[in-house]
Amino acid sequence: MSAPAPGTRRLVVAGALLDDLARPRLLLAARRHRPAALAGRWELPGGKAEPGERPVQALRRELREELGVEVEVGAELPAADPEGWPLSPALVMRVWWARVSAGWPEPLEDHDELRWLGEGGWEGVDWLAGDLPVVRGLLAALPGP
Ligand code: CDP
Repeated sequence: MSAPAPGTRRLVVAGALLDDLARPRLLLAARRHRPAALAGRWELPGGKAEPGERPVQALRRELREELGVEVEVGAELPAADPEGWPLSPALVMRVWWARVSAGWPEPLEDHDELRWLGEGGWEGVDWLAGDLPVVRGLLAALPGP
């Protein structure tokens, strides 16, 4: 299969929500309950950016809608592909470290459970296929002890 032409994939934005940006221990995972094909699988919360919407603005909107929180957005997790992490031929995802600055996350839309994954447990849920390499990238980017 040939690579998609640049700029043709729809952008999805997601947050790697941590308890603490400087000294991360806990990562928030969200379990989807819809659509049926994705039900029960875990993801980093986020969603599609609207056309013309700035990506970080889209991230703030998605996390407000999906979890009811405001966030402090940190650095982006770089992907090998400059457009982001591939999800499918039609979707590419960009991911930022983030921290809840107001509110407490609740599953308001696409999710039926949220879980803060502790140290050593970040790979311990059934991540969507596109999210697993991202979570491994997050782990690789963590500061050493
Ligand atoms: O709600 P919205 O239509 O904006 O987006 P979504 O349904 O949450 O996500 C769009 C697509 O990106 C879905 O197919 C999700 O499975 C996928 N996605 C993903 O693979 N990993 C994420 N962390 C977020 C979304």
